[in-house]
Parts: sequence; structure tokens; C-alpha cells
Amino acid sequence: MSGQEKPSKEPTAATVRKFQKEIYSHYREHGRILPWRRTYDPYCVLVSEIMLQQTQVKRVLEKYGNFITQFPDFASLAKAPLQIILSKWQGLGYNRRAIALKNIAQKVVNEFNGTLPTSVETLMTFPGIGKATAGAVAAFAYHQPTVFIETNIRRVYIHQFFQDKENITDSAILPLVEKTLDISNPREWYYALMDYGVMIKEKYENPNKRSAHYSKQSPFEGSNRQIRGMILRLLIHESGLSKSKIIQKTHKDEKKIETILVQLINEGFIKKRRGTFSLT
Ligand code: ADE
Repeated sequence: MSGQEKPSKEPTAATVRKFQKEIYSHYREHGRILPWRRTYDPYCVLVSEIMLQQTQVKRVLEKYGNFITQFPDFASLAKAPLQIILSKWQGLGYNRRAIALKNIAQKVVNEFNGTLPTSVETLMTFPGIGKATAGAVAAFAYHQPTVFIETNIRRVYIHQFFQDKENITDSAILPLVEKTLDISNPREWYYALMDYGVMIKEKYENPNKRSAHYSKQSPFEGSNRQIRGMILRLLIHESGLSKSKIIQKTHKDEKKIETILVQLINEGFIKKRRGTFSLT
């Protein structure tokens, strides 16, 4: 290791205070008012965090309210048919998150008496909940001073503390997140950090390009994802389509369609019966 991933210099107490002041002052002026920031309901916070994992705020804003109205709590989501959940998820992409949400809801109802656990460790045993989502939910719903990194937060720390450094790992950033955390109000603090991260993205060359974990989505992945979405939309509207019907309706390459159909079956989204495909 070249040691390049160390911060430019260890922040002093004064630097930490100045950093916090800067983040909060930006937040007072430009903080975003978002529906999932107005609630402490663990269910709503969790739904929003799963939606925000891979989808932009603008898109989530179009879907979140309706989803919560349709499925207002863990119990309603746990018993809803996957097909209905997927139809409300349409437009958010990465549909496996919708399946994970249903599985989470079932686990909460069956194993935790309908109440989402509060500890990060337990939250991470749920499908679709990694470190960042667990940390965010514990901070936003349960006011815990958790230490976590997501894309906007990463951007802030790289921008502020790793000038002229490359290949910066999250393990080099985490101690700084811990050191600068406002333990008296983790909820506001993380909102403020995320909003500062958005500002940096708009104003500067993306600092996350210097993260060791940075990866640009490949064009292949994008197009694969698009075809997956097309197939699921088709099957939501019409059950029992043959492979040739799907090819005809999507105008996509046969080999690609075949691969994706197999993937969707393996992931539990669809099933094949007598040569036709339907949602599970
Ligand atoms: N507010 C709460 N969680 C958020 C997130 N993951 N991204 C943006 N804003 C948020």
C-alpha cells in the first residue's frame, strides 16, 4: 500500500467544528424537504431507503407516496401479491428490491411481531438491507448515532478530507464519519451531509471517481436492465406469454431474451409453465 488513501491531514477539533458548521449552514439554506424526512415511521423510512438505494430522488418522489398509500405498513405489504407490488414499483427499476421489501415485511410480521428491529446488526440480517441502509434506518427512524457511508456522504468526505488523493477506501473514510458525526442529532446531520453531497456533484468534478469503490455502470448492464423491465411489464399486463411472443413484442435479440428469462426464473420473479411465462 502506498498509504495514499490516508486523509490529507488528521482533522483537529477546530476543523471538525468548522466542517460541521459549513454542512449545517448549507443545509439551512438549501436542505431538501422530502416526504420521507417528515416521518419517523420505521416502515416509511425503510421503504424510502430501499427505493433510494439505486434510484434518483426525483424518480422516488413520483412513486413513494402512492406506494405508501397502497401498502401503508408491514402487514399490508407482507400479504400483498408480488404482482401488485411490482405494478406499484414500475418505474423505479431494479425490481429485486421490491421482492426484498415483501420478504422483509413477512419477516417483520412473522418473526418480530410486526415491529422493525432497531439494531444495525439485526437489520443487516434482512434481505436487501446492507450496512448503509441499516445505518440510515437506525439514524432516521430511531435517532441512533450510527456510522455509515452512502454515495453522497462518500462524496462529501473525499471532497473535504482527501484532496489530491486517489484510490480512497471506505475504511479510510469511516473514522472521519465517526469523528465528525453530530451525535446530538444524527438524523439532521445525515440529511445535511447528503444534501451537501448533492451540491458537490453539481458544482465539481465528481470526487467519487477517486474512491476505490467507484464503478461506472456498464452499457451492457443498462440495456439488460431495460429488457428485464420490458419483460416484467409485459407479464404484468398479460400472463402466459411464449418466448416467441416476448421476442416479437420487445423486438429484442433472441439470445438476450433467453438469458434474461432464465435469470428472472432463477431470481424468483417469473415461472415457466407449458412453454409460457408468467409472474410468480
Ligand atoms: N433522505 C433520507 N434518506 C435519503 C437518501 N438515502 N438520499 C437522499 N435523501 C435522503
